[in-house]
Amino acid sequence: MRKKLFVANWKMNKKMADVRDFCDDLAALNLPAEVDVIISASFTLVPTLAKKLQDLSLPILPAAQNLFYEDSGAFTGEVSGPQLVDSGAKAVILGHSERRRIFGETNEVLNKKLKAAIKNGLFAVFSVGENEEERAAGKAKDVVKQQIEEGFAGLSESDKAKVAVAYEPVWAIGTGKNATPEQAEEMLAYMRTFFPDSTRLLYGGSVNEQNASVLLQKPSVDGFLIGGASLVPESFYKIITA
Ligand code: PGA
Repeated sequence: MRKKLFVANWKMNKKMADVRDFCDDLAALNLPAEVDVIISASFTLVPTLAKKLQDLSLPILPAAQNLFYEDSGAFTGEVSGPQLVDSGAKAVILGHSERRRIFGETNEVLNKKLKAAIKNGLFAVFSVGENEEERAAGKAKDVVKQQIEEGFAGLSESDKAKVAVAYEPVWAIGTGKNATPEQAEEMLAYMRTFFPDSTRLLYGGSVNEQNASVLLQKPSVDGFLIGGASLVPESFYKIITA
């Protein structure tokens, strides 16, 4: 039985004081011990988040939302794996559709980033998913297959166990239009064929406290990647305990 994993993706939201308040509020809610939790924040917030989680003894991994694949050098504006580790990050989200779509990150670049995360001891949450046209054209599984095959190229089975993979259909992200539990189950069961048993497979896309419990009942759903609903401690907590 895989331990459930809940990943907050705060995206480009919050400032340092908000991070401290969020952690105080979450600590007061008593997280269950039998789940894993990750919170991913903007680079500037990671040290504050890491310190606050440590001060409160909250068993949550602080994470970033991106990294660059080289360790150091002339890459103005980028942040490397060793720098992330130094800032207190224990994990990183990679391959989010916003990175793919707005910042042009390809499967090839994401493969390098994934290898850099693993090399630096960061737990990676790797996101895949088709867009609306691809689903309408019946190509959802082909798109996800290609993202997995190219994104995970060259990774050993033991490396794949250091990653969680989130199925996040682009049409469901931030739209309030989540995949049905059946759609999520169908894709995650398909994705399972590419990964060892221990790799957690998550669903992401408009997860909230209303739909979390029915999605979690599906056998292939090992947890969630949560955007909007993770910004409020009570909502995030309700999803974790759904
Ligand atoms: P959402 O975002 O929960 O707001 O749809 C999910 C994500 O982007 O990871």
